[in-house]
Amino acid sequence: MLVDHSQESLNQAVERIKGCVPNAAIAGLVADLSIEGEAERVVERVVREMDSVSVVVNNVAARRYEAIADAPWETWDEIVRVNLLSFVSMTRAALPHLRRCGRGSIINVSSVHAVLGRKGMGAYDATKAGVLALTRTLAYEEAEHNVRANAICPGFTRTPFHARRLGAKGVDDLVPPCLLGRWADPVEVAYPMLWLASDEASYVTGATFMIDGGLSA
Ligand SMILES: NC(=O)c1ccc[n+]([C@@H]2O[C@H](COP(=O)([O-])OP(=O)(O)OC[C@H]3O[C@@H](n4cnc5c(N)ncnc54)[C@H](O)[C@@H]3O)[C@@H](O)[C@H]2O)c1
Repeated sequence: MLVDHSQESLNQAVERIKGCVPNAAIAGLVADLSIEGEAERVVERVVREMDSVSVVVNNVAARRYEAIADAPWETWDEIVRVNLLSFVSMTRAALPHLRRCGRGSIINVSSVHAVLGRKGMGAYDATKAGVLALTRTLAYEEAEHNVRANAICPGFTRTPFHARRLGAKGVDDLVPPCLLGRWADPVEVAYPMLWLASDEASYVTGATFMIDGGLSA
């Protein structure tokens, strides 16, 4: 079940996945996860349609390119709601089901800028650092239920968001300063997430994975 507040993004993602896996059992659900209570509705719907929940990938994010000196309260309110509180509400709503299934996996998408400093995105970076602490605490608290919690920190990843942004700025050929000297294709971030979701990662919890082409090495 894909969840997003944009119907258009959902349609595109569902179509792309069906193009690769024609028989995929996949659906999109529109929800604004910055609103408390939406997570309960999402999880109820997933359980109704798919019987159980064994994996949660918290991936939604909002960005504001503002220095801390300039960012108004509204920026912080929005970014904290979307990037951190939505992870909390989705996790809380799903936990009873993750515990019940006996092999739950939570994958929280943070950022390399949770651990590397820079200027201009203080609210975003603070929430991404918060995601790492949230993940570690979850790993401690849920281990007895065999629910694993891990975080991934992508670096420069050429998702549609960044492809649009680079194109608009006329810097489509920007080379990121990571060891591999190139942008990640989104699938190169998806594969580690797929592994963390699977039983092949059954001994992995509380970990932070840098998927950044060596940027933080
Ligand atoms: N692309 C990168 O270079 C990069 C680097 C580091 C971390 N990340 C992280 O990876 C994840 C995916 O990034 P992306 O580049 O695909 O970004 P994106 O903006 O394309 O994807 C985020 C999605 O979240 C959705 N969303 C935003 N607010 C929402 C809300 N209130 N309710 C429901 N959905 C909402 C958006 O509609 C969008 O589809 C994010 O968590 C991002 O912080 C990305």
